[in-house]
Amino acid sequence: MSDAAESGRIPQEVVTRLSEAQRVAVLTGAGVSAESGIPTFRGKAGLWKNHRPEQLATPQAFRSDPALVWEWYHWRRGLVRQADPNPAHSALAEMENRIPHFVLITQNVDGLHMRAGSGNVLEMHGNINRARCCSCDNRIQLTDESGVLDCARCGSLMRPDIVWFGESLDPDILAQSYRAAGTADVFVVAGTSSVVQPAASLAFSVKEAGGFVLEINLDPTPLTGAADITVLGKAGEVLPELVKRMWENQTPGSLFQPDR
Ligand code: APR
Ligand code: ZN
Repeated sequence: MSDAAESGRIPQEVVTRLSEAQRVAVLTGAGVSAESGIPTFRGKAGLWKNHRPEQLATPQAFRSDPALVWEWYHWRRGLVRQADPNPAHSALAEMENRIPHFVLITQNVDGLHMRAGSGNVLEMHGNINRARCCSCDNRIQLTDESGVLDCARCGSLMRPDIVWFGESLDPDILAQSYRAAGTADVFVVAGTSSVVQPAASLAFSVKEAGGFVLEINLDPTPLTGAADITVLGKAGEVLPELVKRMWENQTPGSLFQPDR
């Protein structure tokens, strides 16, 4: 373990930097929703009927077996519907209230950040509660659908409104994400394996530009060597502790005054 990777302990430097920050951007991954009971992608829990996510979340898989891919998304959507935001989501919603310019960038498609009260959220990989038409620009909100869905407007196949492996991200969302990360006083990366591009490159671009990166993860990742500080622990414990310490650290000079 490198000096910068600390088990559970949040160094005071991180608390001070966050308390004084005008701009903070946060990138979250599946680990932030794990404590809500939503399986992560990599590791055993990510398996579904012996399929790996990388085999199902692709345009090729959808072309060859749309029923299988829809079944997987309907199953995952069911898990999301039963789940509640956990203390990690709530802590990030609270952090947004404390920081003048706060952007939450998420790879998660479960919508739990919004349900926890986060407002400024960029969903890099789409949202599991939406479907879109493969041919026209029809988008629908999903509730209790099952099976393969057809477009009510043009009759074509509908697909989950998710960015699959091999597909491009929405260029506006990507540009906003890079801008938020690149201008942040502190960039926080929580609960992601930091292996899926382009999301993983955000933190490295921050480091190249001389910014400060805090990583929170159960285990070290490919980012750990480059991050300024890695706190090893559960997002649902470390993030609430961090926000609590930010409040304790508050001095009159560091108070956010919205009308300033
Ligand atoms: N607290 C903090 N970190 C956790 C926790 C937890 N409670 N539980 C798991 N983790 C960490 C794991 O150590 C791992 O590094 O979260 C990470 C989850 O990694 P992945 O399953 O790879 O999820 P993610 O990084 O979000 O995947 C990126 O891959 O399949 C695609 O599009 C999908 O958005 C997803 C992308
Ligand atoms: Zn259509």
